[in-house]
Amino acid sequence: MDLGPKLKRACDDSLHKAKMAWKAGDAEAAAAHFESASKAMFKYAEYAGSRAQEYARKKKAIEYRDFAKRLREVGTENAAGAAKKLTPPSGDPDDNSQRESTPEEGDTSISSAVSAMVHTSGITWHDIGGLDETKRDIKYALGLSLARPPEGVKITTFRNILFYGPPGTGKTLLAAATSNSLKVTTEGQALFFNVKVSGILSKYFGESSKIISELYGAARDNSPSVVFLDEFESLTTDRDSGEQSGAERRILSTILAELDGLSEKGRGDIFVLTIAATNRPWDIDAAVLSRFEKQILIPLPDAVSRRAILDIHLGRRGYQIDCELDELVAITSGYSGREIERLCKEATGEMIEELNADLPDVIDRGLAGTRAYQVKVRPLGKEDFLRAAEHIKPQTSPETMQRYLDWGKEQD
Ligand SMILES: Nc1ncnc2c1ncn2[C@@H]1O[C@H](COP(=O)(O)OP(=O)(O)OP(=O)(O)O)[C@@H](O)[C@H]1O
Ligand SMILES: [Mg+2]
Repeated sequence: MDLGPKLKRACDDSLHKAKMAWKAGDAEAAAAHFESASKAMFKYAEYAGSRAQEYARKKKAIEYRDFAKRLREVGTENAAGAAKKLTPPSGDPDDNSQRESTPEEGDTSISSAVSAMVHTSGITWHDIGGLDETKRDIKYALGLSLARPPEGVKITTFRNILFYGPPGTGKTLLAAATSNSLKVTTEGQALFFNVKVSGILSKYFGESSKIISELYGAARDNSPSVVFLDEFESLTTDRDSGEQSGAERRILSTILAELDGLSEKGRGDIFVLTIAATNRPWDIDAAVLSRFEKQILIPLPDAVSRRAILDIHLGRRGYQIDCELDELVAITSGYSGREIERLCKEATGEMIEELNADLPDVIDRGLAGTRAYQVKVRPLGKEDFLRAAEHIKPQTSPETMQRYLDWGKEQD
């Protein structure tokens, strides 16, 4: 019996329910239906009549799965209406009028995909509050890899670093600062490849392993350079459910080979540092994990770090406070760096709005008048932050933080 049409109907049905739930604003239910649609689509792909068709169907399946994941993320943040801002995937994978890129489509798309991953950012070590030991470790590793070893001595250095920890604690910042510090030491030569692993899997499905090879090739050509693999856990998520596709297996083995530096053997002058980041280290495959010589927990900031982060987002932006900084350090206990930044934005934003309520009327008086308007500010007090803290609450529970600590201990 040909199961194909039945699976297609199951998929359409789930998709229909998913969209209804999504329209009704029920992110949780929509995510569950998109997941069912993804599962049915994966099965349906097995009944494809051609490779191109199989590819298109699997690509859709991954799109549904990723959309479900995003919905869940937005759902947990509980941002009202945020789920509605996402655009749900649609369309029939077998419908050729929506042209999909196929694996056969030449190398130009691959190299342009790789170029799109080259990033520049102005982040420096100075922009990162706290994490002093981690910064030192990274600088030491860079130094050891780039400095000249004594004649005849082979020093092994680490080349793969994993950052794990709760969201918003500075993992991406650290990777960017690392890459920028290479740029300083080598006068503009360093390239920073910023790769969202889930993004390549969904966008370039069949080509993703080719993209990784091309990426590392470019990284080697531009040595020293940094490859940053963000959302690293998405590489291996669906292993257990038996849905890992051929493309996912291929990308996994490609990454393993690159992490081992197989293509660099015997070329001691080449230095490519891989930094992977994840919020879910326990989802990473053991074989992959073992390639990371350094696994560094980037925790929620302690009091000393919160002081530094508050200074970055207030003092260095020119805002003044008329309470003890320690009081703000106490208010932000349990907050991530990102949450502290949001809190500061909320408090400063409210204060400015309160003092400049007449600004909308000024606009009516024409451009010259508006340009002459002096925006007023005042020092912020503890009350401003307490009020902001009613809206912006820390999302990482002590239990979750403990889970990272426990996982780290298990790895020793
Ligand atoms: N240690 C820090 N010092 C200063 N700002 C910070 C720090 N940590 C986080 N922030 C602020 O939060 C924002 C998010 O940080 P970042 O992108 O590095 O988090 P992340 O750990 O990569 O999070 P995710 O796991 O969600 O990717 C930064 O742009 C910065 O404004
Ligand atoms: Mg990040």
